[in-house]
This record gives sequence, structure tokens and C-alpha cells, in this order.
Amino acid sequence: MTLDHNAVRADQPVTAGDDWWQTGVVYQIYPRSFADSTGDGVGDLPGIMAHLDHLGRDGLGVDAIWLSPIYPSPGRDLGYDVSDHGAVDPIFGSMADFEALVGAAHRQGIRVILDLVMNHTSDRHPWFRASRADPAGPYGDWYLWRDPAGRDRRGRPRPPNNWLSFFGGSGWTWDEGRRQFYFHTFLAEQPDLNWRNPAVPGAQLGMVRGWLDRGVDGFRLDVFNTFFKHADFVANPGAGLRRQAWDRQRHVYDQNQPELVEFLARFRTEVDGRPGRMTVGELFGGGAETAASFAADRHLIFDFVLLERPWSAAAFGTAIERVERAFGPVRWPTVVLSNHDRPRHASRLAREIGQEHRDAVAKAAAVILLTLRGTPFLYYGEELGLGDIAVRRAEAIDPPARRAGLFFPWWNRDGCRSPMPWTGTPNAGFTAPGARTWLPLAPDAATRNVASQAADRESVLATYRRLLATRRSLRPLRAGTFRRVGADHRDVLAWIREAAGEEVLVVVNFAPRPVAVTLGVEVGSGTWLRADGTHLEPGPPIGPDRRVALRPLEAVISTRRG
Ligand code: NOJ
Repeated sequence: MTLDHNAVRADQPVTAGDDWWQTGVVYQIYPRSFADSTGDGVGDLPGIMAHLDHLGRDGLGVDAIWLSPIYPSPGRDLGYDVSDHGAVDPIFGSMADFEALVGAAHRQGIRVILDLVMNHTSDRHPWFRASRADPAGPYGDWYLWRDPAGRDRRGRPRPPNNWLSFFGGSGWTWDEGRRQFYFHTFLAEQPDLNWRNPAVPGAQLGMVRGWLDRGVDGFRLDVFNTFFKHADFVANPGAGLRRQAWDRQRHVYDQNQPELVEFLARFRTEVDGRPGRMTVGELFGGGAETAASFAADRHLIFDFVLLERPWSAAAFGTAIERVERAFGPVRWPTVVLSNHDRPRHASRLAREIGQEHRDAVAKAAAVILLTLRGTPFLYYGEELGLGDIAVRRAEAIDPPARRAGLFFPWWNRDGCRSPMPWTGTPNAGFTAPGARTWLPLAPDAATRNVASQAADRESVLATYRRLLATRRSLRPLRAGTFRRVGADHRDVLAWIREAAGEEVLVVVNFAPRPVAVTLGVEVGSGTWLRADGTHLEPGPPIGPDRRVALRPLEAVISTRRG
């Protein structure tokens, strides 16, 4: 299928824009893990509010925070199973706390983006309870109910088709009450809504309006491209032998259905009705090409091409080229290296060259993240070079991790969700000293925390702060075009961002040893930032002519004045 759902006209270069959705930096907060104000060991909204200084202009200087779900939820997928989309989960605080947070964030120039989980609800959501209880009632058709495809040899009802749950096993669960199956892309406790029933998109848009009225600045759309399924529930074709059962099918009929386009247009009209708002869709499956096909002005799409690459110039180079090719000059990509579903990139990328290089890799990766073309999304803690924690299987909290086994190999997402370390005190300032944190702190929290790194100008945090400030001062980094620059060394990548005649050259050494490289362009002699810890300063040329000498894992940003 050829996809082109794009609302951007090819003759309208989006690179000229100065809108925050495009030029800004978004910071993802996993609310359970950011800061706890009550001492129950779970992060909350007042906790976030108390730490806005870390995010505002006196700290990192991000433009927006994205909050992973804050709605009431039985917690079977830790908030991604929502039982009331219009309220705040009491574990995070109250609606008054939310409104106070939005107000305080806005005063610091920080926008607030909510995570919308619209593909599915919790099985405890009143809609699903009503749907389950009364097939003929007003909610009877709000979910994907189907009769069995006959009986198996033991007389048990057969699922209607071969569609799977991403969290292991069949996507169909039998309901004794209705004597029908219902479909769930994720856990059985997360039934998928029936988007072909017009009442469903209607209710979702009403909910969206409610949050816009409360002053939110945008939304992240959980797995948006899976809202619609094929009307006839056609079986997915096979995709050959793969490790994960999910990957052994081509998801032709349970994702990316043409009807999605019309809903997205309605959704965008709703959001665009309020100036200054943006959205970002989480693409579920599919690469940069599919992501680009859905991208539109003010409506970004995540693709995880970069996030899935190992730490090498070749792998990153190919990924960057692929994204650039897919989005072309008119569509605006996102840049993501970590989120709440994947191993944290500081420890993940350092795996190839040794954990002793973790901080240096984190700094070099930060240069990549903050200087490529696209809107960067940071994940809380990455600005400290925070790594994954090890959680024993018996202690796993992440629901799919608890289901993992031979037929469902899965990683434990608890690893990337550990509490944010703020100070070197007991419990790292995340919660009261004697409290039990909902997940263990990172073992190095006593030394790797905001307070200690803020005091150290060589730290990962100090580098992030300087990089964000550099982005703010150099328009090409925020809004410029991108072009690769040749580099005659296999461990080096180089590119130029350009806007209104101003050029910024970025050179990254992926190797943990010094390299000397000849570039395809003159280096220039403007200000430069070395990401190995020194600060932005007017400096000597980083090399004569086209030659650059780089220290191990060093990245350099240089303005070019010819
Ligand atoms: C994607 C979210 O990022 C993930 O955390 C969640 O488990 C699934 N969607 C289901 O909502």
C-alpha cells in the first residue's frame, strides 16, 4: 500500500517556521518516576511542579513537557489502561493540582502535552463495563466484539481470526457473559475501541476539547495508527520466521486503515482551532516512510529508526539518511533516543564500547539528538546519563514482562523507569528518605543526580544545558536544513544545518579513541562547542582547512563563517 496522508504541500517548506512544535525541545516525564511530594514512593503532579526549575530557562530550558498518562487507571499497563479519560488519577493528585501545574509551567514558558490513549480503554472503564453487560445497549458496539470462528477439537470457541496481542498470545479474549470474543492489541485488560462506530470518535473528540479547554498545549497520541481495523476482520498474512510472534505477521489489516485519514483530519481541525497547539503521534510499527506519510504541520510523528540503532557511525549514518530521505525537505521529523518503552540510551549505546564510556557516549548522543533536523524529545533522566536499572524477574512490575516466556520473549520496561535522582541524600530526593520507592533507584543515584551534576561543569547535565542554550542561540540548529558532509573516517559523521545563509557544522566521533579526519568542507572558524565537557566559547579553529582532530567520543559544533 502506498501511503500519503500528508497535509503539507510540497511547495511549502516547513523549515522556514519558528513555531515551538518545530524549533522547541520536548521533555518526557513518566509521572510515577519524576518526583514524589507525598512520601508514598510514587511520583505525582505536585512533585513535578516542585521541580519545574530544572526544566525552565534557569535549568535545561525545554519548551514543553509531555506527561505519560495521568488519568485514573487500574494500572494494568501503568496508566496506558485508562478508566476515565477526563480526570486525574488520585495517585498523581487532583484536577486542581493539574491546573496548578499547567499554570506554573506556563509561567516558566513551558507547555504541557498530555498523552492520549484512544485506541483502547481499561476493561474497568464504564464504556467497556456497559458494552460487556448489554450488547443491545448504547455501548454494546463500542468495542470489537466478534462471534467465534467455530469450536476447536475440545469444544472451545476459536478466535475470529489470527490477529495477535502485542503483549503475547492471541489478541482475542473470550467473554463468557456475551459469549463473544473482544479484541485487544495489548493486554486483555485493554480492550480496543470500535472506531467505526461514530459515537467513539465523537466521544474522543469531546474529551480532547475538554483538555484543550483546561489549557493543555498538545497531545501525544498513543499508537494512533492502530485505531481502525479492517471492517471485515481479514486475517493478516504471514511474514516468515521471526523471533517475536507479533513480527511473524504483516500487520496489514489491524493497522494503518484508510479510514484513519479522515479521523486524523477531524482531530487536527479540532486541535488547530486553538492556535499554538501541537500533537505528536506514536507510530506503532512501520518505519520512517510510514511516519513521514502521516506528518503534517503542527502534527509530528515519532519514528524509532534512530532509537533502534547501535552506537556506530555507519548505523547512525544510515538511519539519519533514511529519515531525511523519507521526510524530504518539507516534512519535519522528530528525534528520539529514549522513552518509557525502550532501554535508556546512555547504557544501551555504551554497550558496544564499554560502560566506562557511558558519560562520553551520553554527551555525544546529546549532540546528535539536539542538532539533527527535527524536534528532539528528551526522556527524563537522560540529561544525567542515567542508565537502566536491573530488576529481577520475580520483582518485575511491567505487566508484559511478567508474562514473558519462551513463546513471548520480552524485555522488562521497569529498567528504564527508575525514579529520578535529584540529590545525593537517601532516596535521592525523589521521595521521603524512609519511603519505599515504587521501583528501585539507580545504583549510582548517590553520585549521578541533578544536584551533583549541576555543580560539575563537565557533567552530562552541564553539557545538556549548554547544548540547549546553543540551540536557542543558533537558528540553523532549530530550524535549518540538513546536509551530510563527507568524512574520510569510518567512526566519524558530519553534517551541516543551514538557515538564512548561516551554517552550523556538527562533527561526531563515535570511537573511544582520538581520530583525525578530513571533511568534505572547510571547517570554519566560529564559536565551537566540544561535547566532551568544555563549554561553548569562541575558540580557535578546530582544525586547519578541512582537517579536524577529535578526542575520543568527542562531538563538535562549529558555526561557519567561511
Ligand atoms: C504504547 C505505549 O508507549 C506503551 O507504554 C503502552 O504499553 C502501549 N502503547 C499500550 O498503550
